[in-house]
Amino acid sequence: MKYIIAIIQPDRLDEVMRLLEEQEIHLVTVSNVVGRGRQKGISEVYRSHKEVGSLLKKVKLEIAVNEEFVKPAIEAITKGARTGYVGDGKIFVLDLQETLRIRTGETGKVAIG
Ligand SMILES: Nc1ncnc2c1ncn2[C@@H]1O[C@H](COP(=O)(O)OP(=O)(O)OP(=O)(O)O)[C@@H](O)[C@H]1O
Ligand SMILES: [Mg+2]
Repeated sequence: MKYIIAIIQPDRLDEVMRLLEEQEIHLVTVSNVVGRGRQKGISEVYRSHKEVGSLLKKVKLEIAVNEEFVKPAIEAITKGARTGYVGDGKIFVLDLQETLRIRTGETGKVAIG
């Protein structure tokens, strides 16, 4: 199991969600966040509304997936979020040790989806 965290431009969210759904990836957590990358929020201001200081508004997606969905998820996010301009975002892939569905007590692979 992997835990995928993606930071993307807010205006790419709809397209990323559409492409994830196309890959049968429906379970996702989405947050509005602020952040900065290696331009330190400066030369990217034309793309994103500037929030506080050098922090820019971004959207964070978090998706827990079984191994067979790792590649499709990464491809969907990349395809949906890439414009070729600075600030397109970043994807972090973490090993996920355990998942537990609170209602049923199910764990592991069956608890993810
Ligand atoms: N190393 C990091 N740690 C934590 N968050 C990060 C890191 N790198 C990027 N981010 C988050 O991702 C957002 C988008 O990053 P961004 O796409 O600007 O990366 P970058 O490395 O500057 O690449 P680019 O040169 O394409 O802009 C940042 O605003 C920040 O929220
Ligand atoms: Mg950047």
